Amino acid sequence: MSPSRPFYVTTPIFYISGTPHIGHAYTTIAADVLVRTARAHGPARALTGTDEHGQKVANAAAAAGMTPQEYVDSLAPRWRELAPVFDARFDDFIRTTEPRHVTTCLALFDRMRAKGDVYEGVYEGWYCTHDETFWPEAKLIDGRCPNAECRRPVQWLSEKNWFFRLSKYNAPLLAHFRANPDFLRPQSRYNEMMALLEEGLEDFSISRSSFDWGIPLPGGGVLYVWYDALINYISALGWPDDADGLFAEFWPGMHLIGKEIARFHTIIWPAMLWSADLPLPARVFAHGWITGDGGLKIGKSLGNAMDPYLLVEEFGADALRYFLLREAPFGSDFSISVDKLRQRHNSDLGNDLGNLLRRSLAMLAKYRDGLVPEPSDGRVSEFVADLPVLVRDHVSALRFREALDEIWNLVALLNRAIDEQKPWELHKAGRGVELDALLYDLCEGMRWLSVLLFPFMPTKSTAIWEQLGLEGTPERAWADALVWGGLAAGTQTNPGAPLFPRIEPPAA
Ligand code: MSP
Repeated sequence: MSPSRPFYVTTPIFYISGTPHIGHAYTTIAADVLVRTARAHGPARALTGTDEHGQKVANAAAAAGMTPQEYVDSLAPRWRELAPVFDARFDDFIRTTEPRHVTTCLALFDRMRAKGDVYEGVYEGWYCTHDETFWPEAKLIDGRCPNAECRRPVQWLSEKNWFFRLSKYNAPLLAHFRANPDFLRPQSRYNEMMALLEEGLEDFSISRSSFDWGIPLPGGGVLYVWYDALINYISALGWPDDADGLFAEFWPGMHLIGKEIARFHTIIWPAMLWSADLPLPARVFAHGWITGDGGLKIGKSLGNAMDPYLLVEEFGADALRYFLLREAPFGSDFSISVDKLRQRHNSDLGNDLGNLLRRSLAMLAKYRDGLVPEPSDGRVSEFVADLPVLVRDHVSALRFREALDEIWNLVALLNRAIDEQKPWELHKAGRGVELDALLYDLCEGMRWLSVLLFPFMPTKSTAIWEQLGLEGTPERAWADALVWGGLAAGTQTNPGAPLFPRIEPPAA
């Protein structure tokens, strides 16, 4: 996220036949915070989309009495609307059934083949048709499918397929991991992938010939769905047809993923790129999993805390965004509950931030007719001097929680200033200069908060901006906006509705 280099972040593309849940919202929100912070410093781009091929999709389509294409077309809108529900703004949404994606996949396949890394082989093993899974012989139980809920007889299946010479990239990958410890974060995932690399990689099949819902290959068969899916990150940038455009500007980018798909993104995908002589992803961050709380108490109005749409209805997108990124370090698993969300909403957001705005603007209205006094250059200006760099560094290292902690230090400082300096006493004692200085610090401090919080809470930070009487929105280049004294004397503030009205627990 340096000022000189354009920034590109991606989410995994979601399985089209899945149901949107809080985990999908989590990655989406994190990507949005990253890209909004990056946009405040230079060109930045974010991508999300849907993963639409594979036998499961074909089966689900058949069960629904539709062609696979009709089926995926019917489901795509609900994934497209996911990001806007959480106030996340992506520059592009890619579907793997789009022609632009098909073109890129076939071009990459050709390149890898020309390199001698793709060869024909026989893909065989014990196959459970019901589970659509190949099983190693050692895993079978009495010659049957080892899945406890299945235990059906397996068959020996043999398909002629294309294989990728992944083993060739074992040593280069090990060297890359060793030389670039930041390539994959957090450390736990890095260690896991290092163990796989040290164990040794085997070639693997990148096509299928037993079903046809995928990208067709000229000689028959279709691309394996994961091979096809990973390529979305560069097909959305127009490689190779428009390689001088977005691809030249934004690749390599960074991938945000859930921890369960690290092997695909940090071993297979880099090897595919290497094989095609393309640059590797800049960084991959594998975040933790959200689980339900053991003692999850779900309000009567809420069916399920894992349903992100219900949570947004109850708490609003900004509070949910704040909660997900403040609750736990980004690489760790954590549990959510409606109680925890309500508590953070009422304390951090309602009491700390919302009341700060309300109290400050009320005092300004009372003592100065709501007009911002002359700029002061007091304690707050010193405190905030390093804040933009700290926040930006934390966000670019995916330390969202720490970034919010830093921002909340400013919230606390401003609240403390009111409690300690007691503006009502300054007013009574006729200490107008000191009162002006304090009121200016509060208003200008909140202008900074509004700009710094914009990536995390776009709607509420815009409300702060508007209540301060400012034009436009807090979406600004930090270098220009975060200069102390930017709030002009004489600005007429405009107090409005409380930012985060208290949410009471449902009656027992
Ligand atoms: N289609 C593949 C990804 C292909 S990327 C080239 C896929 N899709 S998915 O629909 O299953 O979504 C996976 C992503 O959703 C995970 O990587 C993760 O980002 C998110 N999550 C799914 N469940 C999750 C939790 N319970 N908690 C947090 N995030 C998890 O895999």
